[in-house]
Amino acid sequence: MESIARRLERRWNTLKTDLTWIGRDLRGQKRPPVVARRGPSRYPVATAPRPALRPRPLRVEAVVRETPDAVTLHLAEGDGTPLAFEAGQFLTFHVELDGQTLKRAYSLSSSPLDGPGATITVKRVEGGRVSNHLNDHAAPGDRLLALGPSGSFVAGAATELVMLAGGSGITPIASIAETLLRTRDDVRVHLLYGNRAEADVIFRDRLEALARSHANSSLALALEAPPAGWSGLTGRLDEAVLGPWLDRLEHDRLEPSVDRAYYVCGPEAMMDGARALLSARGVPPEAIFEERFRSPADAPASAELPAEAVTVRVRAAGRDTIVPVAPGQTLLEAGLAAGVPMPFSCAMGGCAACKCKLAEGEVVMDEPNCLTDRERADGWILACSSRPRGPVRLEVV
Ligand SMILES: Cc1cc2nc3c(=O)[nH]c(=O)nc-3n(C[C@H](O)[C@H](O)[C@H](O)COP(=O)(O)OP(=O)(O)OC[C@H]3O[C@@H](n4cnc5c(N)ncnc54)[C@H](O)[C@@H]3O)c2cc1C
Ligand code: FES
Repeated sequence: MESIARRLERRWNTLKTDLTWIGRDLRGQKRPPVVARRGPSRYPVATAPRPALRPRPLRVEAVVRETPDAVTLHLAEGDGTPLAFEAGQFLTFHVELDGQTLKRAYSLSSSPLDGPGATITVKRVEGGRVSNHLNDHAAPGDRLLALGPSGSFVAGAATELVMLAGGSGITPIASIAETLLRTRDDVRVHLLYGNRAEADVIFRDRLEALARSHANSSLALALEAPPAGWSGLTGRLDEAVLGPWLDRLEHDRLEPSVDRAYYVCGPEAMMDGARALLSARGVPPEAIFEERFRSPADAPASAELPAEAVTVRVRAAGRDTIVPVAPGQTLLEAGLAAGVPMPFSCAMGGCAACKCKLAEGEVVMDEPNCLTDRERADGWILACSSRPRGPVRLEVV
């Protein structure tokens, strides 16, 4: 039984947290969303700590400069064995910089058909810590810590793929397109790839060779600032460029009534515009597949969380376990440390492998994460991106 003093202390801690939030609200500061489920909130405690969630070392075998702003790293497992993955998946890297562990996802940019040569391709982001660090300092022989591969932005059953890529968004798209074209005669792939200038086009030779050697594919390049004599499309991948390209595709190339899917990866504005345009043209939401390159914040918003450990009841594989969650720990970190069999892959909100039901209590969940509005409304949370505000009951389904 919990003592009255302990209960009073817990209430006082909750009150302190609420006052902090009110202060932040009054100052106009944004806070992460709180997901809540109601119900009784007192549980007994027991635990058996054990290490988990450790990234493994990968070896950088070679470094190839693709463009002035993008570099490709050839990777192998730490023991030199090939890295197994499905086209379109990504790895989560834990990069130590200035005493901080920064988690960043990078899509595998090669085709898994190429055997030991698994690659990621990293494009500089202005002011970006990890992307610039890797562009400037990655060298053969380096060891990078990584989790994964993860993610469900992979080829499905569709036999016709319309692919839209912008900038570094070409990485998973090129991997999927190449893998499908090299393995399946029944699949058609049409790719529109946009960049600012000619020098920014990543994998140009590879994409053009693919289109030349596969009659069941087409490639269009668009540049915002084309050089004189440019024969491709001109402009950003907005409605003015996308609309006419889709019109031509529908008129000249697309097969009527086939299983068609749209794959989109690029800057946020381009992706939002593409989704709106495709929806307006009658493409159903389930035919649109997106990979968003946004990463969650590097540090949890600690002011929003209780200053003390809280207890969480986790139901997994038909068994309840009481798990203490230390301040700042995610539900996944705490559950795995207590020996609960909780699924996960990327551990950074990008793949939904850790999706579970919040049956009771409240959590603060990092943004962005890959849940749909519908899933949130139905009480799903991501254990890797959620920290409890108080006692919580969780169901690993
Ligand atoms: C599933 C997934 C796959 C990814 N695959 C790739 C990939 O194949 N190649 C690749 O280059 N990147 C990829 N990214 C993006 C990558 O994880 C990092 O977000 C990116 O490299 C920036 O990290 P940084 O540490 O350099 O920048 P940060 O230090 O995190 O950010 C610096 C500034 O840039 C902004 N910013 C962050 N990311 C972006 C972005 N992508 N575009 C524009 N502005 C940004 C931030 O808001 C901030 O203001 C992927 C992301 C996800 C979630
Ligand atoms: S493990 Fe990938 S979203 Fe949580």
